[in-house]
Amino acid sequence: MSEILVTGGTGTLGVPTVDALRRAGHSVRVLSRHPGPDQVRGDLLTGAGLAQALDGIDTVVHLATSGSTRDVDAAGTLIAAAEESAVTHIVYISIVGVDSIPLPYYRAKLQIEHMLEASPVPHTILRATQFHDLVTMIFAYQKRLPWVFVPRFGAQPIAVEDVAERLTELVGQEPAGRVADIGGPERLSAEQMARQWKAAALSTKRIVSIRLPGEIVRTLRERKNMVPGAPYGTKTYSEYLAKRYG
Ligand SMILES: NC(=O)c1ccc[n+]([C@@H]2O[C@H](COP(=O)([O-])OP(=O)(O)OC[C@H]3O[C@@H](n4cnc5c(N)ncnc54)[C@H](OP(=O)(O)O)[C@@H]3O)[C@@H](O)[C@H]2O)c1
Repeated sequence: MSEILVTGGTGTLGVPTVDALRRAGHSVRVLSRHPGPDQVRGDLLTGAGLAQALDGIDTVVHLATSGSTRDVDAAGTLIAAAEESAVTHIVYISIVGVDSIPLPYYRAKLQIEHMLEASPVPHTILRATQFHDLVTMIFAYQKRLPWVFVPRFGAQPIAVEDVAERLTELVGQEPAGRVADIGGPERLSAEQMARQWKAAALSTKRIVSIRLPGEIVRTLRERKNMVPGAPYGTKTYSEYLAKRYG
C-alpha cells in the first residue's frame, strides 16, 4: 500500500478520491492551504509547507486547481519538489480535449501534461470529461436572470465518484504515462441537461438555447470534449441531480 499525498483533496473531486483511496487501504495525507483534520498545510503557488508534506510520500495524486492558468506555476513547484523527494509516482487529472479545445485553462492543463512528461518522476495522466458538478454550476450560477442561457453543444458528464474510482485503480498500478480517457455513461445536449436540472432544482426559469460563434464552440460541436467507445462512468446526470436536490 502506498503513502499518498492528495493535492486538492478538499475539493469536489478530491473528497471522493480521498475516500476511495482510504477504502482501498492506502495511507492518505491531504494538502490544503487551510487547517483541518488529516490535512497538512501547504500552498502550491508559494511552495510553503511542500517539502514537509512530501516527507515519506511515495505517490502524489495531483488534483489541486486554482481554476486558472496559474495552475502551471503550481504544478511546476510541485514537480520540482517531487524531484527532490522520494516520490516515485505522480498521478495527474486532466481534461478530455485539452489538446483540441482552445480555452486558456485547457492549454494550461496540456502544458502541465508536458511538464510531467519531461520530468524524471514517473507519472500517470488521466483525462476525464466534465463533472456533473461543473455542468450544474453553469446552470445554477445564472442567478439574476429569469432565463438560463444554454449554448448549443453536447457533453458526456461524469460523476466525481467514478473518476475517483479510476484514480484509485491507477494509484495501485505502475506509472503508465497517459492512459485511456474516461467519460460518463451518457452523451447529452446542454439543453437536455438544463431541462433535467430545471426539473430537479424546481426552477421556474425559461431555458434559452443560444448559438455561440467561434473556435471553442466549433471544437465542442465536433465532440472533442467526449470519449468515443464504451463509457467508464456509471452514474447518470439524473442520478446525480436526484442525490443533490433530493
Ligand atoms: N470540473 C470538471 O468538470 C473537471 C473535469 C475534468 C478534470 N477536472 C480537474 O479535476 C481537478 C479537480 O477539480 P475540482 O473541481 O475538484 O476542484 P475544486 O473543487 O475547485 O478544488 C480545488 C482544490 O485545489 C486546492 N488548491 C487550490 N489552490 C491551491 C494552492 N495554491 N495550493 C494547494 N492547494 C490548492 C483547494 O484546496 P484548499 O482550498 O483546501 O487549499 C481545493 O482542494 C482539477 O485539476 C480540474 O482541472 C475537472
